[in-house]
Amino acid sequence: MEPWQIKLVQTEDIDQILEIERELFPKPWDRASYENELTCEGSYSFAITLAEPDNCSLIIAYICFRIVMDEMHLFKIGVAKKWQNIGLAAYLCQESIKFSSEKGAVVVYLEVRISNIPAISFYRKLGFTIVGKRPRYYPETGEDALVMMKQINKMKSIFNSSA
Ligand SMILES: CC(C)(COP(=O)(O)OP(=O)(O)OC[C@H]1O[C@@H](n2cnc3c(N)ncnc32)[C@H](O)[C@@H]1OP(=O)(O)O)[C@@H](O)C(=O)NCCC(=O)NCCS
Repeated sequence: MEPWQIKLVQTEDIDQILEIERELFPKPWDRASYENELTCEGSYSFAITLAEPDNCSLIIAYICFRIVMDEMHLFKIGVAKKWQNIGLAAYLCQESIKFSSEKGAVVVYLEVRISNIPAISFYRKLGFTIVGKRPRYYPETGEDALVMMKQINKMKSIFNSSA
């Protein structure tokens, strides 16, 4: 059995996720943005938790995406620094893609900062290709975004589709 578990993010998980956000992103989401995102139609967020000895669940990674018609839009994926490079993001991404596939998605799109080499390498490894560029997509720095895309084959999710 894996030492971690995957779960749907609930409102009570937001504080832990925001802590990871602040560790990873130059412009982290605030509570209102994340809460608002969770209430949007078609928005889903999964987290990876570690079982702590006191029966608490420690969140170490998360993903946030939306399913719009037959497209999955990956908004965020983050793995706490201490837990990077052991395959957690790949696992989260694959489970989210399977989940989206069961809900009818046939393609995944995402935007990534052109300077974010680790993330671009990560997405390439998962089979994403660069299909476009959005100039000055990130207003705080004026940085361009690359648009990446991956076709989804039909897959079966470990989550119940009605989740
Ligand atoms: C990108 C990120 C999610 C990857 O998470 P992870 O759990 O470490 O990734 P995995 O262990 O599943 O996959 C590792 C693969 O990612 C790529 N990768 C990860 N870190 C990398 C780095 N520093 N440099 C180059 N490639 C890297 C490699 O292809 C690697 O495969 P390899 O180990 O065979 O070389 C993580 O680095 C992160 O949270 N970054 C900060 C947040 C972010 O930029 N998110 C993406 C934009 S929303």
